[in-house]
Amino acid sequence: LFAGETEFLKGVVAMDGLPPADRTEICFAGRSNVGKSSLINALTNRKGLARASNTPGRTQEINFFTAADSHYIVDLPGYGFANAPLKVVEAWQRLLKAYLAGRQSLRRAFVLIDARHGVKAVDEEIMTLLDRSAVTFQAVLTKADKVKAAEREKVLAQVRTKLSKHPAAYPELIVTSSEKGWGIEDLRAVIATLE
Ligand code: GTP
Ligand code: MG
Repeated sequence: LFAGETEFLKGVVAMDGLPPADRTEICFAGRSNVGKSSLINALTNRKGLARASNTPGRTQEINFFTAADSHYIVDLPGYGFANAPLKVVEAWQRLLKAYLAGRQSLRRAFVLIDARHGVKAVDEEIMTLLDRSAVTFQAVLTKADKVKAAEREKVLAQVRTKLSKHPAAYPELIVTSSEKGWGIEDLRAVIATLE
């Protein structure tokens, strides 16, 4: 799936700007700064494809990428704290929720969880929305390079407990580091099974 070039298609700021729902679509959701854009860059082997930054709130549109003429890979704005004006943040949070709840072609949402912090209240809110919309989601731990193994195990246990309460959660977790390349091959393999 990621053997060829993944290309940027468009940035969407309103539901009526979404491309036709005619491809297999997967998206990356998660709190601001959790590492969504970095993970897409690691997956696609293209450093600057999705814009990543230290400033929470870097991704402010729903960014569509095309992979292998068959898939859309979608980079979402973060939720929770963001370094942007409240009105702007509220607008993109509304769009994010409308997208997650109403996108026909969305096959799976990857919900990214920082390996240092575990599942927070805002993550649960998104998970509940996905439950209600019957969108299967899968948790991906990010920035695993930033924690020691013991701490990682503790967070993993917390995440598993939280996931068990969500009917739309896919039980298998993926542990990643975009920095070190950990788990990237596993994630590619999972995505390749979705059609
Ligand atoms: P928003 O678009 O603002 O919601 O953020 P995002 O979730 O897209 O995060 P982004 O990919 O921009 O990464 C945020 C910061 O975390 C950047 O400084 C990245 O370099 C850093 N980062 C991302 N992934 C990793 C990782 O696996 N390990 C480490 N150490 N840093 C990471
Ligand atoms: Mg981003």
